[in-house]
Amino acid sequence: MDLIKDIDIISAEEAQACDYKTTPDENTGKTKKLYIESYGCQMNFSDSEIVASIMKENGFDTTSDFEKADVIFLNTCSIREKAEQTVRKRLSQFNQIKKENPNLTIGVLGCMAERLKENLLSEEKIVDVVVGPDAYRDLPNLVAVAEEGQKAVNTFLSREETYADIAPVRLNSNGVTAFISIMRGCDNMCSFCVVPFTRGRERSRDPHSIVSEAKDLFEKGYREVTLLGQNVDSYKWSPEENNKARLNKKEEEVSQVVNFANLLELVAQVSPLLRVRFSTSHPKDITDEVLHTMKKYDNICKYIHLPVQSGNSRVLEMMNRTYDREWYLNRVQAIRTILGEECGISSDMITGFCTETEEEHQDTLSLMDIVQYDFSYMFYYSERPGTLAAKKFEDDIPLEVKKRRLAEIIEKQGQLSHERNKLDLGKEQLILIEGTAKKSDQQLKGRNSANKVVIIPAGKTKKGDYVKVKITEVSQATLFGEVLEINPVLS
Ligand code: SAH
Ligand code: SF4
Ligand code: F3S
Repeated sequence: MDLIKDIDIISAEEAQACDYKTTPDENTGKTKKLYIESYGCQMNFSDSEIVASIMKENGFDTTSDFEKADVIFLNTCSIREKAEQTVRKRLSQFNQIKKENPNLTIGVLGCMAERLKENLLSEEKIVDVVVGPDAYRDLPNLVAVAEEGQKAVNTFLSREETYADIAPVRLNSNGVTAFISIMRGCDNMCSFCVVPFTRGRERSRDPHSIVSEAKDLFEKGYREVTLLGQNVDSYKWSPEENNKARLNKKEEEVSQVVNFANLLELVAQVSPLLRVRFSTSHPKDITDEVLHTMKKYDNICKYIHLPVQSGNSRVLEMMNRTYDREWYLNRVQAIRTILGEECGISSDMITGFCTETEEEHQDTLSLMDIVQYDFSYMFYYSERPGTLAAKKFEDDIPLEVKKRRLAEIIEKQGQLSHERNKLDLGKEQLILIEGTAKKSDQQLKGRNSANKVVIIPAGKTKKGDYVKVKITEVSQATLFGEVLEINPVLS
């Protein structure tokens, strides 16, 4: 779910590393300062926006300087061992600050908090507060308990909490693109994955609150929303099932079940000027109905993140992904048939899963050739305590082999990305400008429908503009274009 990355290809080191985001400086006259560092996936970043909102209601402005903070939260990730190690290192760095400022409250939130619960307090002595992803409403209370000198923990997982009524405080926003969580948790049990344990049962958020968040963002000038969930295709909201969870009780408005295709349509109808993206799609659940809805609306971006994990059916079965190679390729065929060659497809891949043979690894490489991914996020397998794979299988592939296989798929992806990008040469595309390019303030950065970064010369265009461009040059990771028309009529 690392959609926000500017880069399309990541090296083995980067793939295993974990970048983080912090809070911006905000001064609305509140008495206390909160610093949040967020790790992991986009859902975690989105949760930090909910946390900031809750804390804002309770007397906190955010700061970008942890040395000025009264409260430091680390919103953590457990997906791979490396992600947890990064947080532990960071906590030991904060140790010094805590010594200088004993009144400082340090909290661990998110997936690592949920996985380790109160054990984290004994393992990491400087931690005062441990709060799981479904307990953020309790944060102000827990911080108050910690300020009284007691340790505070809440890792209760809910079947209902969706934070539907909380307006997120947009952190580090470019003012053009924003993320909207549409569901929480995950009911799949991929054997390698810790998420079902850290995020709990899957639940979908009230469609009205999603649409009104999208409308509100549009009115504030945003031009793109990404609907987020671990498995967006299983989004399902029905008045009966979700009655308890509903905070917005306008009974007459919801009379039928809303599936993901329906939700996409509702959000797409907010405005033809509001682009809609989504992530992550699960190969077992993505329906033709979703693909047809994508085709029907120009403002639904033609890009699907469809993680395969492995190209071999035996490995997929051990991973408990509940589809095989043929099923996956059939879904890709459906995408190509309904949406055409230009639809961007990306993937996540894990190399060196338990018992994976050299031949099975070759199956992943050959599947990549068939699908022609635009880009991929690639990792080597990291055993996570408590998962099905950790209980049932031996983590038997040596690290050097895992790394070598990873390097091979990274190389393959590099070639494929370049080939796919070359197909865009000479094409006219519509891009949405997100801001200044990283390398030069004489250039602007936008994205095309297929989620590729397109760099154009800075001229009369500005952030939030739609620009029709002609692609003139491509590299492995980026497209370069010339401006044909600024803000063409979109309907
Ligand atoms: N819900 C998404 C994945 C979320 S986790 C999906 O089903 O596709 C993001 C990615 O991290 C996964 O797709 C997988 O490729 C990787 N990942 C998850 N657990 C892992 C582990 N134990 N070791 C290595 N990579 C892992
Ligand atoms: Fe993890 Fe699988 Fe759920 Fe994705 S679908 S979050 S990989 S269990
Ligand atoms: Fe996301 Fe990491 Fe949790 S990927 S759901 S923050 S384990």
